[in-house]
Amino acid sequence: MQHLSKIKMALIGVGNCASALVQGLRYYSNCKRAEESVGLRHLILGGFHPKDIEVVAAFDVNVRKIGKDLSEAIFAHPNNTPKLADVPPLGVTVHKGPVLDGIGEYTRHIIEVSNKPEESVEKILKESDAEIVVNLLPSGATKASQHYAEQTLTAGCAFINATPTFIASNESWAGRFEKAGLPLVGDDLIDQVGATTLHKTLLQLLSMNGVRITQTYQLDVGGGAESLDTLDRTKDIKRTVKTESVESALPYKAEVVAGSTDYVDFLQNRRDSYFWIKGIHFCNVPMQIDLKLSTIDAPNAGSVLLDVIRAARIAKDRKQKGTIQQICAYAFKHPPKQVPLETAEKMFTDFINQ
Ligand SMILES: NC(=O)c1ccc[n+]([C@@H]2O[C@H](COP(=O)([O-])OP(=O)(O)OC[C@H]3O[C@@H](n4cnc5c(N)ncnc54)[C@H](O)[C@@H]3O)[C@@H](O)[C@H]2O)c1
Repeated sequence: MQHLSKIKMALIGVGNCASALVQGLRYYSNCKRAEESVGLRHLILGGFHPKDIEVVAAFDVNVRKIGKDLSEAIFAHPNNTPKLADVPPLGVTVHKGPVLDGIGEYTRHIIEVSNKPEESVEKILKESDAEIVVNLLPSGATKASQHYAEQTLTAGCAFINATPTFIASNESWAGRFEKAGLPLVGDDLIDQVGATTLHKTLLQLLSMNGVRITQTYQLDVGGGAESLDTLDRTKDIKRTVKTESVESALPYKAEVVAGSTDYVDFLQNRRDSYFWIKGIHFCNVPMQIDLKLSTIDAPNAGSVLLDVIRAARIAKDRKQKGTIQQICAYAFKHPPKQVPLETAEKMFTDFINQ
């Protein structure tokens, strides 16, 4: 079944993630069969194909992106995710939003803020007929994320919070979206090939087989602007969230450390994750795992984002309001309520097929 109307989406932040998403829309636009859509979890979801998603508005603050067509802005410095597809002019000009805390102490050195006057986000969302807003601001941009969430509410759109700022998992925000009759999902998108998921899966497997894990760590090094911002503003919170998440994979206490560590500019948008696992098994014999996972950060968010955008539209069409648990649990690291992986998968499938 094909839906007639497009999914009209606005992007908040035209950084690496937005670049991979916009390129992905183009990359998969002519895919007709699931067998051709390598790298996608779902070619068709709830009747929607990726080509049904249309970007109708975009906001940033970087002088190199403001006033540019989105197809050009996605490749502007400091974006450094690779080129994945030829994107023709899209007819969407990047607007200047309010800066607030969008640029941190470290990213200030690589991003020049445009001196153009900031525009009304609510007005642009309404004029562009946007129905879904995707928040892709830097992880330390708490006030800015809240501002865009506020504007989304008044413009009557659904809100997808891919950032670690607590919005969907904050009761007050959830209540406000519920009252406004709008869907809200978040927080902090799960990657397609996620270091934390891989770490937890390994620990679960070992523990299930009777191995006693004594110590483990997971440390990341990246070269995107987001890694630089993390180093400056969100290293501690990310370490707490990830460590708690990894600890929850073991039915006993072990020494666990998990979290982003450093920024290495020449890695570009690559992220290297290092895992160390130490334990004992039969007759107290020691075992050890030393692993490295290498991914490109932004494309790692693409497949999950495409699912979330289509699912949010389905929720909006069904007039569902407030946090949509089935989407939050499936696609976000910090949903309002954590559920086991298999439960989240089932909840999402049941939601799509209901
Ligand atoms: N695999 C992934 O990339 C992944 C996975 C999970 C979560 N996320 C989250 O997605 C978000 C985006 O990641 P990214 O790698 O694209 O970051 P990025 O730093 O490349 O992009 C952020 C963009 O926001 C813009 N910006 C800053 N302040 C602004 C403001 N006030 N208004 C409008 N625009 C503003 C910046 O100029 C930049 O273009 C981060 O919060 C990250 O934690 C990403």
